[in-house]
Amino acid sequence: MTTTDRYGVMGYPVSHSRSPLIHRLFALQTGQDIRYEPLEVAPDDLETAVRRFQRAGGKGLNVTVPHKAEAAKLCDQLSERANTAAAVNTLSFRDGEIHGENTDGIGLLRDLVINHAVSLEGSNILILGAGGATRGIIGPLLEMQPASVRIANRTLGRAEALVDRFSHLGPVSAYPFDAVPVVRKYDLIVNATSAGVTGDAPPYPEAAVSGDTFCYDLAYGLKPTPFSEWARERGAAKSAMGWGMLVEQAAESFNIWRGVRPDTEPVLRQMKVTA
Ligand code: ATR
Repeated sequence: MTTTDRYGVMGYPVSHSRSPLIHRLFALQTGQDIRYEPLEVAPDDLETAVRRFQRAGGKGLNVTVPHKAEAAKLCDQLSERANTAAAVNTLSFRDGEIHGENTDGIGLLRDLVINHAVSLEGSNILILGAGGATRGIIGPLLEMQPASVRIANRTLGRAEALVDRFSHLGPVSAYPFDAVPVVRKYDLIVNATSAGVTGDAPPYPEAAVSGDTFCYDLAYGLKPTPFSEWARERGAAKSAMGWGMLVEQAAESFNIWRGVRPDTEPVLRQMKVTA
């Protein structure tokens, strides 16, 4: 008798998560017999919930906001990227151990480079925000050998702490929003703040956008996010939301768990219309 392997996503809240739908579509497409469920887990209950899932024979978990840093501490093994980011979004249960990976950064890279044909080598990149989302993407961006990565944040100290953590990987520097150098054009501006969620319009550096700038919002919605509207109004060459990153990071997790890489293109197309 075969049993269906169990997976899930732990978040707080988690009801908005599209991961169950994405993994269901991946499983259908690749003929994998899995169950993937949303699991609402409060921060104080994370360790108990993860260990209970593991004891019950679960094979893997995604963890999302606000659990990514705490989940990394529960892992017996961390991939190099997860270790550098000190945050995980993918847990695998193997041989009684918890393996932690972070597929957010590679998900973003695949969306930028493959889906949007953005060339990152030698580019000038500006990241807005210095929270957990930035920590997951900055290492993989630096691996692409950009000319510069600048981090702008409302709270300068958080951006400076990221510079300390990542500067061994490449040229990265920190600024408050109103002091971002704008002499050189930015090829890519990534919004990694959570400001859009609350509908706020922070004082993003307007002069950083030029007609050659690709603006990417890690957030996504059926309607344009405040950042993508802001970017379009300022004449960005192109403005995209984070749907592709969402689907690509999920495909990386699926590949880690099942050893099969799903075709993301049809799933991405479906997400944008049914989300
Ligand atoms: P996440 O895991 O989504 O990155 P986080 O770690 O709480 O969440 O980080 C949120 C980021 O959005 C931070 O960079 C935060 O700026 P501060 O470090 O100054 O708090 C940024 N952010 C949230 N709301 C914002 C706003 N209204 N204006 C500017 N930045 C904002």
